[in-house]
Amino acid sequence: MGSANPEDIGPEREKVALSLGLGGFAKHVLLCTGPECVSHDLGMLAWDALKSGIKEEGLGKSCYRTKVGCLRVCQSGPVAVVYPEGVWYHSMTAERIHRLVKDHLANGCLVEENRIGTYPLSESTTPS
Ligand code: FES
Repeated sequence: MGSANPEDIGPEREKVALSLGLGGFAKHVLLCTGPECVSHDLGMLAWDALKSGIKEEGLGKSCYRTKVGCLRVCQSGPVAVVYPEGVWYHSMTAERIHRLVKDHLANGCLVEENRIGTYPLSESTTPS
């Protein structure tokens, strides 16, 4: 597959995208699992808590989740950001991530004590 013409595998990529449900999600959570803002072990515990919390709340079809290696804040992690609102959070440990899932993802209420700020993407950066 590495030597395939990228245009030849376009339908395959689209099939993968559709199988993931891309285009049908209301929110996208990106969670940093370190290593600068938090140890890898604590970051992975938070990631596991995010995955199980989304599943337990029945949000699997509405919330997309992505584990990332760095969101460039690099302190007081795990750092997380929720789009489309652009709400950034610090200290999203496994213990605290349940509030993120229940309050923000499930009910649209921000977790104020862990909020770094709200920085939505500029509409001018969105391709038409
Ligand atoms: S390592 Fe987590 S934000 Fe940079």
